[in-house]
Amino acid sequence: MASGEFDTQSFRQALGHFATGVTIVTTLDESGAYVGVTANSFNSVSMDPPLVLWSLDKRAHSLKTYETAEYFVVNVLAADQVSLSKRFATSGPKDKFKGVSCTEGVGGAPVLAGCAAHFQCRKSFVYEGGDHLILVGEVVVFDASGRAGLVFHKGSYAVSQPHPVIDTTQSRPGAGQEFVEEYLDYLLTQTAERFRLQFQVVLDQAGIHKFEWRTLACLAENYEGLTFERLRDMILAERNELSRLIRSMQDKDWITSGEDFSGETRYWIVKQGLDKVIPLIAAARAHESDAMGNSSAEEARQFKDHLRGLLQWVNSGEYKPAHLVPDDPEHGSQPDNS
Ligand SMILES: Cc1cc2nc3c(=O)[nH]c(=O)nc-3n(C[C@H](O)[C@H](O)[C@H](O)COP(=O)(O)O)c2cc1C
Repeated sequence: MASGEFDTQSFRQALGHFATGVTIVTTLDESGAYVGVTANSFNSVSMDPPLVLWSLDKRAHSLKTYETAEYFVVNVLAADQVSLSKRFATSGPKDKFKGVSCTEGVGGAPVLAGCAAHFQCRKSFVYEGGDHLILVGEVVVFDASGRAGLVFHKGSYAVSQPHPVIDTTQSRPGAGQEFVEEYLDYLLTQTAERFRLQFQVVLDQAGIHKFEWRTLACLAENYEGLTFERLRDMILAERNELSRLIRSMQDKDWITSGEDFSGETRYWIVKQGLDKVIPLIAAARAHESDAMGNSSAEEARQFKDHLRGLLQWVNSGEYKPAHLVPDDPEHGSQPDNS
């Protein structure tokens, strides 16, 4: 094909069929400021010596920095780091590192927290590669956390899953494991626990207890206030703990209480509580969209509809867990043969 006919758009699309991981390559500029770029061109080159490569667009704002830097770190992103990937895929001198946890690696280059792996490199070679520069680094330090890596495929973020063929013929554990990994309680609990642990980092930074956060979030959307029992039901706290936290939140002027028309005590959020919870709600929304990043908006909606439906059903009076409740000989559910 003559070069004039070369369809760059289709070429880019065809390349997108090759699934890759996602990295952020970081270094220091001449003034010592941190620099980072999202890159999926990372690849291994050699075992001995240990070499890796990645390529950088010559139009990148950070081109000069990477040309001169002696060291760089390849931070292999974990599946829950989509927002970090997006942040470092924006161009320019703005502070991409604001609020990002990192430590210093070789040559002072930043090592990002929470990644699947890191390869800290001394730059060995730089090659011309058309409109890109190819940077080869010798790995001097590396680590892998075992976290699932983020995937980029056909222009979208994705997560990797065992192939179903491999899954059924080779890597299926014994029958007992099959039960556990398919059991609804296991799936719900594992997902919820991990999701919650991730958000706990945000709560720790804000200095707020998880039940305070849940209470404020519930009250933020309830202009009519909530009763103690309703709150307890929504945030799943022990009675004594909720009483203690309510007193502490009232002392901090986050919430207030009063009687409703039927004489029952209700709790409301007040301005200071709202100021506290609004940024957390924004962070929670961002966390959720990160975690659901691989589902389309329609899939995410359907998933939530299923969960909501299931919750309503197990909470409803209609649902009787017949297999769990032994027959009561006195009031039992034995067929009436009289
Ligand atoms: C998933 C993904 C992978 C990317 N891979 C590369 C890459 O390998 N090389 C590159 O130069 N740019 C890549 N980019 C684009 C850069 O991250 C983007 O141009 C960034 O703005 C460059 O930063 P800078 O201009 O501040 O230097 C990628 C972007 C995304 C979203």
